[in-house]
Amino acid sequence: MAGTILLAEPAHSVWATADGQAGQHQVRRVAQIRHPAERTTRDLPATLHDLDARGFASDNCAGIHPEILEAITRANGGHQGAYGADVYTQHLQGVFRQHFGAEATAYPVFNGTGANLVSLQAMTERWDAVICAESAHINLDECGAPERVGGLKLLATPTPQDKLTPELVELQARGWGDEHRAQPKVVSLTQSTELGTLYTVDEIAAIVEHAHARDLAVHLDGARIANAAAALDVPMRAFTTDVGVDMVSFGGTKNGLMLGEAVVVLNPDAVRGMAFLRKSSMQLASKMRFVSVQFEALLSGDLWLRNARHANAMAARLEAAVRDLDGVQVQRSVEANSVFAILAESVTERMRERYPFHVWDERTGEVRWMTSFDTTELDVDRFAALFKDEMAIEVRDPQAG
Ligand SMILES: Cc1ncc(COP(=O)(O)O)c(C=O)c1O
Repeated sequence: MAGTILLAEPAHSVWATADGQAGQHQVRRVAQIRHPAERTTRDLPATLHDLDARGFASDNCAGIHPEILEAITRANGGHQGAYGADVYTQHLQGVFRQHFGAEATAYPVFNGTGANLVSLQAMTERWDAVICAESAHINLDECGAPERVGGLKLLATPTPQDKLTPELVELQARGWGDEHRAQPKVVSLTQSTELGTLYTVDEIAAIVEHAHARDLAVHLDGARIANAAAALDVPMRAFTTDVGVDMVSFGGTKNGLMLGEAVVVLNPDAVRGMAFLRKSSMQLASKMRFVSVQFEALLSGDLWLRNARHANAMAARLEAAVRDLDGVQVQRSVEANSVFAILAESVTERMRERYPFHVWDERTGEVRWMTSFDTTELDVDRFAALFKDEMAIEVRDPQAG
């Protein structure tokens, strides 16, 4: 029966609810729309989580944008070729070319780690090395996949300003022909960076020019490329295709997809074996139409930009709300969709009981708050208000909690 109301079980979650309260949730009523032929109301499981739960842990914690979900539903039904031999994947090439130019070829994959892995393998020989920032996701957060699965040497470089520069690339660009040294072959940049900052178009252009002069190809980890383009107010090709970037790991999941990233080859001369590497890296989706149709919904109109602009605006709102509070030191400039701040550990602990977020650096007490396409102004304002209360408690009684 469509529109049946059923009684849900209590959810055991510490996520904050829409009214900012924490703790276990009480028995809730959940509207379910289901096929008449399905089981009776009593047989249906309740949602396992609170549909009003909010947090600032990651843009990965958000759900699916309704327009994406609708696109998946539209692509459902009937049979289509598997492994990319479907109309959605074929049509997708034109969509990506609108953004990245006529030479671009997109290879949908499952996740960002896989996109990076396929990209970097396609750009290197077995004895090659990749120059990256020490803070790069490929260096710190992929469980060594580039090394272990890709067999690559990463030349991770400390970056005082969180970003690579031609000078920092130059420190690593040496040793060619020396059999004792993995051969530098690729420079990998992240845009927006893992620390929520941005390379300007000119900064990327300068790195690419320097890299190419050294016969190094350039890969861009664009897990949050849309946030970067929205913040810089330029098309995505302005800091990729137009400045000579060779390969992009294109992020979709963090910008509203259910799941899906794409490896976008901008310079076909810089890669080889893409199709084989995608399969052997376990990134070839059999029902690829459902990944591709999400990208089409994201990129054929302005959904990608709306989502990214909104996430960025929510981070700016959050920063503005907490910037001047005693006891909060906002770190780094807030340029995309994350805010980094140093707080007292006791405040962090109490706040995290209400709203999940990550401790970025346990040594310094730095935390990360990340916003997403579905973060609302109310979410931010409630979080900031709670935060102000916690800071007041902290000032009165530093041992509280
Ligand atoms: C900059 C960056 N690159 C790559 C990834 C990897 O994405 P996934 O978790 O889908 O493998 C992430 C994930 O958070 C990321 O932040």
